[in-house]
Amino acid sequence: MNSLFSRHEELGKWYNPVLVDPETIIAFAHTRECRRFVRKTFARLAPDAYSRYITDFRHEGEKKFGEHWRYLDIVDVVAATAQLIQPTSYLEIGVRRGRSMATAAAAAPKCALYGFDMWMADYAGMENPGPDFVKTELRRVGHRGPVSFVDGNSHVTLPKFFAEKANEKFSIIVVDGDHSDEGALQDLRDVLPRLAVGGALIFDDISHPAHPNLRQVWRQAIAEVDFAIRAFEYGSLGYGVAFAIRVG
Ligand SMILES: C[S@@+](CC[C@H](N)C(=O)[O-])C[C@H]1O[C@@H](n2cnc3c(N)ncnc32)[C@H](O)[C@@H]1O
Repeated sequence: MNSLFSRHEELGKWYNPVLVDPETIIAFAHTRECRRFVRKTFARLAPDAYSRYITDFRHEGEKKFGEHWRYLDIVDVVAATAQLIQPTSYLEIGVRRGRSMATAAAAAPKCALYGFDMWMADYAGMENPGPDFVKTELRRVGHRGPVSFVDGNSHVTLPKFFAEKANEKFSIIVVDGDHSDEGALQDLRDVLPRLAVGGALIFDDISHPAHPNLRQVWRQAIAEVDFAIRAFEYGSLGYGVAFAIRVG
């Protein structure tokens, strides 16, 4: 029995049997244990200018405010979710250097990983080294499960992939590829039906100044679903992150 669900016959008699909620994920993300996990995972990966900046930023916040620091980014949410949910499958649109993917892999080393990216050169002014580089990063964190990368525009590759995997659902899905309003909404609409019950959908950059509508895009996508889902948004510091747990 998956530990995310209560024993349906007895404990699920009145309540929805899903045991994990966004508040639990967030509470865990703020613990010293989870912050240390993120720090250690970062230290195992090959750095670039952005990861060095984020590492310094996090160090300052943790030093000044300790466990009271409420900052969150995509990696905190991936780290907390993957440690608590123990995903069997992780699908990410927009992988780049694999920072989030490697974080999930470090928490769940046997998890099957699916990455979709077109590895746009000089993405956001930084090099984008491609899938072989990401595979090396995954080995650095001890990943031992299957890995599959699909190269190309997610609006083409993802519908094709899902058509080939008609009934498959995924434990964690990260949407962090096309940041245009229409493109991000399309990716969210494509993946939402494929989120497993008890699984988490994570969406980055909801308060990024260069993408001012992404929070609204997120809310629209979540409002459209025809199943029970509980959503959370963090947008105070950094570029913000949103996530949701499917509960029905
Ligand atoms: C912000 S980065 C991803 C960062 C990564 N999720 C992480 O947490 O480290 C965005 C990535 O999305 C890719 N991308 C942008 N538009 C895309 C599209 N339409 N289809 C596939 N990949 C796309 C870029 O090549 C880039 O590597």
